[in-house]
Amino acid sequence: MKQITLTRPDDWHVHFRDGDALGEIVPHHARRFGRAIVMPNLKPPVTSLNDAMAYRQRVVDAIPAGCDFTPLMTLYLTQKTSPEDIENAKQSGMIYGVKLYPAGATTNSDAGVTDIFALLPTLQAMTNVGLPLLIHAEVTDPAVDVFDREKSFLEQVVKPLLEKLPDLKVVLEHVTTADMANFVIDAGGHVGATVTPQHLLYNRSDIFRGGINPHLYCLPILKREQHRERLCEIVASGDPRFFLGTDSAPHSQHAKESACGCAGIFSAPCAIEVYAEIFESLGALEKLEGFASFHGADFYGLPRNESQITLINKPWTVPESFPMDNKNQLIPLKANETLHWQLV
Ligand code: NCD
Ligand code: ZN
Repeated sequence: MKQITLTRPDDWHVHFRDGDALGEIVPHHARRFGRAIVMPNLKPPVTSLNDAMAYRQRVVDAIPAGCDFTPLMTLYLTQKTSPEDIENAKQSGMIYGVKLYPAGATTNSDAGVTDIFALLPTLQAMTNVGLPLLIHAEVTDPAVDVFDREKSFLEQVVKPLLEKLPDLKVVLEHVTTADMANFVIDAGGHVGATVTPQHLLYNRSDIFRGGINPHLYCLPILKREQHRERLCEIVASGDPRFFLGTDSAPHSQHAKESACGCAGIFSAPCAIEVYAEIFESLGALEKLEGFASFHGADFYGLPRNESQITLINKPWTVPESFPMDNKNQLIPLKANETLHWQLV
C-alpha cells in the first residue's frame, strides 16, 4: 500500500477559540501537527503577555495525553501596543508573532488597528527583537470591493510599510491573490506567506455552485480561478517562503448557516490529509514535506520537528459534523466527502 512518511508538520495559522470548545478543537490539531501559531482573536482579544500565558495554559490543558504538540502564542496588535510590550513579549520566549487585524476586517477584529502607520515605534521594536508581524492583509474601506481588498491592502499598506521598515519580518497570512503571492516572491526572505487548503482547492464560483454554500465562506474570501492556479503553481514549485497555515476557523453550524453567516472554514479534522491530496493532484507530492514541515520552521527560526507522521493511501469519509457543545455542531471542510490519504 502506498504511504507517505513526513517530518511532523506544523500549522502556522490556527483559531482554537476558548472555553469548552478547546476540548473539541485542539485534539484535531494535536494529532496531526507538532506546533501551531495560535491566533489571538478571542473575545476579548489576547493583547497582553499575561492573557497569552493564561490562554496558552487553557490550550495545553486541552491537548490529549500522548500528543507531541506545542502551541505557539501570539499577541493581538492594538493601537496601544507599545515598544515595551514587544520587548517584554520577546524576552518571555513565549510569544512568536504579533497579529495585525485591520479593525473590522474579520471575526473579532473590532479591537484591531485603525492606523498602522501610527505604530511605527512598536513595529521598529519588533524589527529590533526579530518578532514577526502576522498580517491579515485586507483593507476595510466598504467602498472597496470585497474581492479586491487584499490587492488594495498590498498597495496601501504592505508596500509603504516595508519601505519604511525594510527589515521587519512579515507573514502575509492566508494569501489569496496572485498579486500578493508574487509580491512575496519579489520581497526577499524576510517576507513569508501562509496558504490555506481552501484557497488551493476552490475559487469564488464554488461558493455559489448549486446554491449558496456558507461553509465555503471565509475571509479573505475565495478568489477567481486564475489566483487559485497561481497559488497552486507556487506551492508546487517548493518556494520556501510559502508554508502551511490552515486558518482553521471553527464557527457553529448555527452561526454558519444563518441569514448573516460567520466567516471561517473548519479544516482541522482533515487538514494534512487534504494538503496531501492537493499536492498529489499537482503532481508535487515530493514538495509536501517542505511546505508542511520545513519552510515555516525555517522562516520562524525554529528547529524542524524530529518526529514523523504517516499517511496511507486508504479512502475514508470526513464526518458530516463534530460536536461543539451541548447545542451546537461544527461542519468541517470536505464534510461527507471521501479523501484518499488517511492519517495512521
Ligand atoms: C477567522 C475567524 O473566524 O477567526 N475567519 C476566517 O474567515 N478566516 C478570522 C480570520 O483569520 O480572518
Ligand atoms: Zn485566521
